[in-house]
Amino acid sequence: MTVMNREIRFRRYLWVSVILAVVALVACGGSAGSDSQFPVDVTDQRVAVGEQVYSSNCATCHGEIQGPVALPGVPSHGEDGHTWHHADRHLFGWILDGPPLAQMMPPFRGKLSDDEVIAVLAYIKSGWADDIRDRQNQMSQLVEQQIIEDGGG
Ligand code: HEC
Repeated sequence: MTVMNREIRFRRYLWVSVILAVVALVACGGSAGSDSQFPVDVTDQRVAVGEQVYSSNCATCHGEIQGPVALPGVPSHGEDGHTWHHADRHLFGWILDGPPLAQMMPPFRGKLSDDEVIAVLAYIKSGWADDIRDRQNQMSQLVEQQIIEDGGG
């Protein structure tokens, strides 16, 4: 796939994500404060913890970040997948409570702490090339700004 195609696809997803975020805000009234933990900062310590969490809880289905998935029908977290098309706040919530319309992915609330989910997100992000991570960070940032402006937090 060319860089150009990726760019166009990314823009499309970016706008869809922003629109979905606004719709979600109107529906929920917004809640976050300005001390947001998103976008998740990728630190060495988080990546180390996240790698453990990932290999014991996620790899059986999702496989290695940039490798093939381990089971059919499971989305890849690598650049060929679409995890990076979503903002950190949404990924965080989906890991805790299951993605929208999940058929197979179990919720991890009660099993993983918030810090462990943040660490696993940092680990997933650490597997992406810099340009992909920068774009996904920008989108995560946009979602946070939207929430803070609308929520007045
Ligand atoms: C039993 C297999 C299984 C396990 C274990 C599992 N997942 Fe999933 N995951 C899935 C499937 C399948 C989907 C697609 C939604 C569905 O049909 O449930 C998914 C979707 C997702 C998504 C949203 C889609 C995307 O990539 O944008 C994220 C994020 C995700 N998983 C992260 C994780 C993380 C992190 C863990 C470990 C803490 C994990 N999953 C453990 C099977 C699994």
